[in-house]
Amino acid sequence: MKTRVTEILGIQYPIVQGGLAYLAYAELAAAVSNAGGLGQITAATLRTPEKLREEIRKVRTLTNKPFGVNFAIARHDGNYQELLEVAIEERVPAISITGGNPQPVLERIKGENIRTLVLVAGVRQAQKAEQLGADIVMAVGQEGGGHLGREDIGTMVLTPRVVDSVSIPVLASGGIGDGRGLLAALALGAEGIEMGTRFIATQECIHANEKYKQAIVNANETNTVVIKRTLGAPGRALKSEFTQGIIDREKQGATYEDLKEIISGKANCNYIYDGKEAEGFGWAGQVIGLINNIPTVQELIDEMLQTAENGLSRLGAIFEK
Ligand SMILES: Cc1cc2nc3c(=O)[nH]c(=O)nc-3n(C[C@H](O)[C@H](O)[C@H](O)COP(=O)(O)O)c2cc1C
Repeated sequence: MKTRVTEILGIQYPIVQGGLAYLAYAELAAAVSNAGGLGQITAATLRTPEKLREEIRKVRTLTNKPFGVNFAIARHDGNYQELLEVAIEERVPAISITGGNPQPVLERIKGENIRTLVLVAGVRQAQKAEQLGADIVMAVGQEGGGHLGREDIGTMVLTPRVVDSVSIPVLASGGIGDGRGLLAALALGAEGIEMGTRFIATQECIHANEKYKQAIVNANETNTVVIKRTLGAPGRALKSEFTQGIIDREKQGATYEDLKEIISGKANCNYIYDGKEAEGFGWAGQVIGLINNIPTVQELIDEMLQTAENGLSRLGAIFEK
């Protein structure tokens, strides 16, 4: 496949694995890159410069293909500079930025020969990222898993809106999990896709507890909820008694202080690492309705490309005069 995204990133297929807090480590990133996409590791959950350096080097032992490091700015509480310096020193091929003003990161990286991707949830953010010199924007619709924009715009509308608003290439994100979604994204004018939730239910996402993976496989599209909306930081997670409990407390007017333990990274890990449903939660998007298996990343990408090609032939037949 050839789009500006494959050219800029030097990859075979325009499929990017999103930053996945606590789950995106070397094994998953390398598997995605080896399968022709862009895998990523997540700096926020590696925490220390030493650990990040170690993980970057580990990716390099597992693949010689390009990969990225994700910086979710807000999660670092502003203390991402040292981690960023490590990513620069290690000459990582790509950096993705989300959850805050990307300007300081983009400015620091300028001239370093590192490709930049900025995750946005709206037109204005996309235009700002372009002005600041981002190479690619990823537009995430409200179907997506994890943190979302506050305006609830779905991928179907957001993608062409962003495509029409910037001249740099756009990746569609949120709700994409198979070859039909890939084809649809391209049809909307995107030059590729970013996927988060779909990559959790793969063999190489080795840090995710089997209960979490099975919950993603068993669930349908109605089994997610948005938590933290009242805190101005909405995020989509698996529906459970635990997440319902968070929402109930939000409705009762709970503050960040009241909620901080049950929405913490610790609560997240209680479920996604240890499978403790009563003590934590797992992020997931509506695309869980389309996820029915736990393949290897290579199998997943092969299947997606085959489905997209079949879909294209079907569309060709529809338009044949
Ligand atoms: C478990 C989970 C953790 C996430 N953590 C991050 C993160 O640390 N950084 C980031 O940029 N995006 C994060 N995201 C968002 C994804 O990168 C991606 O944009 C989103 O999952 C796309 O929607 P989808 O889940 O429908 O594919 C996370 C998503 C999930 C499901």
